[in-house]
Amino acid sequence: MLDITQPPARPLIAASILSADFGAMAEDCRDVLSKGADLLHVDVMDGHFVPNLTMGADMIKGIRRHFSDVFLDVHLMVEKPGDYVESFAEAGANLFAFHVEVCKPMLPDGADAGELIRRIRDAGMSPGMVVNPPTSLAQLEQGIGPHLSDLDLALVMSVNPGRSGQAFIPEVLDKTRWLKERISPGTRIEMDGGLNLQTTPKAVAAGADVIVTASALFGSDDRAAVIKAMKAAGA
Ligand code: DX5
Ligand code: ZN
Repeated sequence: MLDITQPPARPLIAASILSADFGAMAEDCRDVLSKGADLLHVDVMDGHFVPNLTMGADMIKGIRRHFSDVFLDVHLMVEKPGDYVESFAEAGANLFAFHVEVCKPMLPDGADAGELIRRIRDAGMSPGMVVNPPTSLAQLEQGIGPHLSDLDLALVMSVNPGRSGQAFIPEVLDKTRWLKERISPGTRIEMDGGLNLQTTPKAVAAGADVIVTASALFGSDDRAAVIKAMKAAGA
């Protein structure tokens, strides 16, 4: 099993199964893993935080049944992440990443991030926090800053969440650089959205070391070449 707290020599490639064939999920996961993907990224959407509905504990459990030693990075685009900590851990999630936008102080009656982080650790998972493109650097500083040393991963969204196949928003790179200057070597910086062979080098240069890819990977007829080129970014 991948140790997410170890700084990787090359960016880790997280295959986002949102663009996999849902009717052949295990097969498609096996294919990208055999072609060099380091981990699987699972996008959970609740129809409230974002309009779309995707998958939950049963999908995590299903993937875990087929892949006992693959790291499962679960990205919760949901209003109430606290409702899912224990059930996702039981289903086999390794990392549980929740949005700063659903936590205090951005959402006054939202979750307490510190308490959520403790529950995620107690459940045996790595905690991650996520920031959306419209969320400012000041809001990031206030909402994630105090928890940086408790996180295994900070995720900078480079598209507005909700679906695959959107264009990369370069303005978010400021947040990636801000995080890079502050995080410890044991914390990864992940970027998610619109990453392809043109945009990945920019993400890596700004400090990202986990690259999420859905459409650029699953939509390619040479998936091995895509992974190889993404890993070479910044070399
Ligand atoms: C977007 C999801 C992403 C998405 C990325 O809401 O969080 O993980 O699958 O898709 P691409 O790589 O196609 O932009
Ligand atoms: Zn995602």
